Amino acid sequence: MGQAYRALSVDIGNDAVKAYFGDLNNKLYIPNVIVDLEDRAIIDMEKKPLDAIHVEITSTALKTTKRKVAVGKLATKYPNNDELTPDVDKSDSDQPIILLLTAAGLDAVENTEPDEDGIYQVNYYLSTGLPLDESKRNKNKEFRKKIKGGQHQLTFLKTPEHEGKTVRFNFEQVIVNTEGFAAYIDLTTNDDGSTKNEDLLGKTIMINDIGGLSTDTAIITKGAEVDNEYSDGIKKGVSTTLDNIIRKVYNEYKYSIKSRRDLVEIITNDNPEEQYHIWVNGNRVSIKHIIDPELYSLAREEYKLIKEIWRNVPDTRLAYQIGGGAVVLREALNKLNAEDKNYPFRFVSADDSIWMIARAYFKILMLYLQKKGIDFKEAAASAE
Ligand SMILES: Nc1ncnc2c1ncn2[C@@H]1O[C@H](COP(=O)(O)OP(=O)(O)OP(=O)(O)O)[C@@H](O)[C@H]1O
Ligand SMILES: [Mg+2]
Repeated sequence: MGQAYRALSVDIGNDAVKAYFGDLNNKLYIPNVIVDLEDRAIIDMEKKPLDAIHVEITSTALKTTKRKVAVGKLATKYPNNDELTPDVDKSDSDQPIILLLTAAGLDAVENTEPDEDGIYQVNYYLSTGLPLDESKRNKNKEFRKKIKGGQHQLTFLKTPEHEGKTVRFNFEQVIVNTEGFAAYIDLTTNDDGSTKNEDLLGKTIMINDIGGLSTDTAIITKGAEVDNEYSDGIKKGVSTTLDNIIRKVYNEYKYSIKSRRDLVEIITNDNPEEQYHIWVNGNRVSIKHIIDPELYSLAREEYKLIKEIWRNVPDTRLAYQIGGGAVVLREALNKLNAEDKNYPFRFVSADDSIWMIARAYFKILMLYLQKKGIDFKEAAASAE
């Protein structure tokens, strides 16, 4: 029986899961929202699998071994859905496992062939990670064991194109990284594994990852290690801020900004005609008076955290701002910084801000496979 081998990296963000399959050209984005769902009626508009992921997962890594859930966009349509909350550990809840297996399941049915019984049996080399504070508490090993040592199966229920397909996973190897450190790897390694940004090497740098629900501030030492003593985080991210703005805009103008992404477009639009504006009954209305106080309030908290850490680690040379939050807070952070310490901040593109960690996990996996002498392409080919 032919079994496929696949490489997969998954950044289990509180706001969204970012994954790479097989190579760095193949990526997947799933909002991190789930809801328990037995059965449902199919709606005509659902054309693509990502519009309506509905799965049954049986896994020893789950608290309730078997769950039927809607995941991502479909789950957002149910009012009783679960988004992650920052007080729950990623290493200790069902939701990250569900998202991880869903991402792997989509890869399996889209990129491998079923066996004679119609089951997709796939061996995965998986690279994923946990936030700093969980790594600090040594959760990586436990999380790895739960995935690598467990039994996992997924069946697509009412999902376009994939209904009825079953995937059985074997996790051949699982790497559990630390989010902030992974970002450092991405900043200092090219896709082919060679070194980039050489000016970062041998310097103490800060990587501030402003996510949806949390902020992780990693200090990377001159010796390229995470400084466990001074790296820190807060349970604050940009999603709450964006939701507040959406709510206040609705209260004042009875105008619904449909999603956080739409609001991000309004905040970051290059066109000054559009930036900070909505169109109410065809009339252009500025919402800057609502946006600014919200953004600055979060930016001030972020800046305070940065200052505290910089005070503790005075030889810090540079601070990278990454994560979706860095895209949204860029202007506010720069302004606060110009009025205060003038730290050397660096920002990356919006796309890199979002994808950096998942890409880093993938690069780390490739380096690992190389080091172990596992010819990944060969393993994949001989498996067919
Ligand atoms: N270009 C973008 N694409 C997607 N989301 C964006 C973008 N720019 C800003 N955002 C916003 O950034 C937030 C998500 O950021 P990010 O993906 O870094 O969080 P996360 O990794 O899921 O969360 P966490 O790091 O807390 O686990 C969302 O609130 C989203 O609306
Ligand atoms: Mg993140």
